[in-house]
Amino acid sequence: MDEMHKPSRRAFLRGSAAAAAGSIAGAASAQTADPLITDVQDWASITGVGVDETPYGLPIEYESHVVRRNVEWLTASPISSINFTPIHALEGTITPQGCAFERHHSGAIEMKKDDYRLMINGLVDKPLVFTYADLERFPRENHVYFCECAANTGMEWAGAQLNGVQFTHGMIHNMEYTGVPLRALLNEAGLGAAGDLKDKWVYVEGADASSNGRSIPMEKALDDVLVAFKANGEALRMEHGYPVRLVVPGWEGNMWVKWIRRIEVSDAATESREETSKYTDVMEDGTARKWTWVMDAKSVITSPSPQMPIEHGKGPLVISGLAWSGHGQITRVDVSRDGGITWEPARLGKQGDTKALTRFYLDVDWDGAPMLLQARAMDETGYVQPTKEQLRDARGENSVYHNNCIQTWYVNAEGIAENVEVS
Ligand code: MTE
Ligand code: CO
Repeated sequence: MDEMHKPSRRAFLRGSAAAAAGSIAGAASAQTADPLITDVQDWASITGVGVDETPYGLPIEYESHVVRRNVEWLTASPISSINFTPIHALEGTITPQGCAFERHHSGAIEMKKDDYRLMINGLVDKPLVFTYADLERFPRENHVYFCECAANTGMEWAGAQLNGVQFTHGMIHNMEYTGVPLRALLNEAGLGAAGDLKDKWVYVEGADASSNGRSIPMEKALDDVLVAFKANGEALRMEHGYPVRLVVPGWEGNMWVKWIRRIEVSDAATESREETSKYTDVMEDGTARKWTWVMDAKSVITSPSPQMPIEHGKGPLVISGLAWSGHGQITRVDVSRDGGITWEPARLGKQGDTKALTRFYLDVDWDGAPMLLQARAMDETGYVQPTKEQLRDARGENSVYHNNCIQTWYVNAEGIAENVEVS
């Protein structure tokens, strides 16, 4: 086809939008001659790419905007830094590893499986060292869990700041992990030496320079913690802790130690850097609250949002978002289009998994009037996601971590969305 007759993508979109006006489904009328229907296209006139060219598939170039991004001023160096999941552009609930946020305190390290060792020591009957091959011989489990950095939404305490859901809420990912329950490894080492397990702890640390050590109460360690070596069916990517990481369902991301090398059973918390000077919550009176492990229920509308404006004008509009709770299942999500004055129940994509992302939708007929969009999550404990005002009343504005308040997007008549606050 010559260049003159090739319809541009833009013209096609304009044409179909015009034809769609008034129709429910938003499909173009078949009466309009559309060259993309009537003409033989380039891609049908040649043979495509052979299978030998894609031994491992990557996203098509037209999706190259769906990538991790960072906020330059946020951290001093890219080695000790963070990037954000493009949650505005993803759908469903599973985060592909290739665009799942990364948080490193001393950079991602490259370790071979053969060089991997995991030691269990401290108050155990027999201290043990596991190789990667040893871990593969324990009965394993698969579970989908979200991992949220405690600092997610942490820049929004004092005011609406970052204009994109990727930046305000993108320190989260949700994958299907394959691993061995930590319980099984602790039992292999034997917990008899620890005596009464009620007030015992495990201290977990990574093999990277930061070591990223955290204390976990024994009750949690024996509950649902996984020593994981696969995510979404494949080996962990280097940036997520290859070959082995800890998965601590529902608890703050910092405890999900990557490149995990040691688990020590002890009778007291270690009070490491990551649980004293960092990952504590500074309250209004200046005192620091520690042990805020669980990520409370939270939700956010991913589209429309500042990076996902409404481009089709008024009519059918799919409002799409994510909800999650470290306490278990999401049972309900409400959406408001008027800044929290009235609420409508959203439709859950499917019954929520425990401690995993749940997709929700509100399918509306948009009249083109500006909206103040909000989502509010509720979990199986009956907990309801707080407003920003309620959270500030309880916690002040000194905090960085554990901001789970209701987010507001102002959507104007042109469909452009902006990060705002309502009071
Ligand atoms: N583990 C090690 N060994 N080193 C680290 O820097 N960062 C922690 C945690 N585990 C970290 C680590 C933090 S703060 C978070 S939020 C999660 O890993 C992030 O996991 P991800 O990089 O797979 O997204
Ligand atoms: Co973190």
